[in-house]
Amino acid sequence: MKFLQSWPEPVIRVQSLSESGINVIPDRYIKPPSDRPSLINVSQANIPVIDLQNLLSDSQTLRDTTLTHILGACREWGFFQVVNHGVDRELMKRTREVWLEFFNLPLDVKQVYANAPSTYEGYGSRLGVEKGAILDWCDYFFLHYMPYSLRGESKWPTLPQSCRELIAKYGEEVTKLCGTLMKVLSINLGLSEDHLQNAFGGGDFGACLRVNFYPKCPQPDLTLGLSPHSDPGGMTLLLPDHNVAGLQVRKGNKWVTVKPVPDAFIVNIGDQIQVLSNAIYKSVEHRVIVNSAKDRVSLAFFYNPKSDILIEPIKDLVTEDRPALYTPMTFDEYRLYMRTKGPSGKSQVESLTKASG
Ligand code: OGA
Ligand code: NI
Repeated sequence: MKFLQSWPEPVIRVQSLSESGINVIPDRYIKPPSDRPSLINVSQANIPVIDLQNLLSDSQTLRDTTLTHILGACREWGFFQVVNHGVDRELMKRTREVWLEFFNLPLDVKQVYANAPSTYEGYGSRLGVEKGAILDWCDYFFLHYMPYSLRGESKWPTLPQSCRELIAKYGEEVTKLCGTLMKVLSINLGLSEDHLQNAFGGGDFGACLRVNFYPKCPQPDLTLGLSPHSDPGGMTLLLPDHNVAGLQVRKGNKWVTVKPVPDAFIVNIGDQIQVLSNAIYKSVEHRVIVNSAKDRVSLAFFYNPKSDILIEPIKDLVTEDRPALYTPMTFDEYRLYMRTKGPSGKSQVESLTKASG
């Protein structure tokens, strides 16, 4: 993929811009008026909150209502928060802190990890390679966790010292949680509990971590931390910043600002699960707004199908009344789109539909 070898313009670290003390942001971060965050179309609703411990209750009724609650969230919101999810709180806290420390290291230490669009691994400041594109107000670190063959720990930060160890431990724990959620999502589709995981390639699934750093911004009304997009992968487990809100989820014509519950993860359905479920589950558009007072850090763990397996609607979910809505495609092929164009709403999963070709 020759055209994905390098960035079309010199890379500017948003954090450096923010720390330089400017009062006016450069034009390349200014969104057209219709794309800017506005209070007019923000809803006061919140995404569903699910207590996962209820799935282990002695009460069949409580177990069933919890499953139904999750089913509703996957169909209507594409998003929910989970509490009592079993991931160690202290580990969540330490992992977040170590990444905050990473971003606070001197620029030259971070530059060693500067990424390229061919794999995106490392320290980055843009998505997409379109020349002259309007950029998002965000730096990030992207790494592969699974499969082992792609893990490349040598590309993970060596500083702060505990960084690699914490990434490995955190990855292990959130992978377990993703496994549990995959079972729940399968059962709620009327399938055997291993069905979705098998469709992902069983133990050969993929997983990546993107740590997003949204620096404080002198003109937050003109820009976005992350433009509207749906996640291209299977399922995302987001550890949001519990001190600073910023994630907004589309609900009809409005944006819902997620109010993070302490110690919760935010779960969302990605495009690949929308395809497998033949659109019973929705991969919903979301975006991030920034603010003038505080930096914000989030950890997005992407749980994905094996990259070269064909993803198409599960046969049991295709009926005469509900024909297959998507044509088969591997995740590798699919992901190339976002890596080229950058975040661009839901145009991608929609372009996969048979009706629109
Ligand atoms: C993402 C994402 C949301 C956030 O990384 O795909 O949507 O709150 N992040 O940072
Ligand atoms: Ni996302």
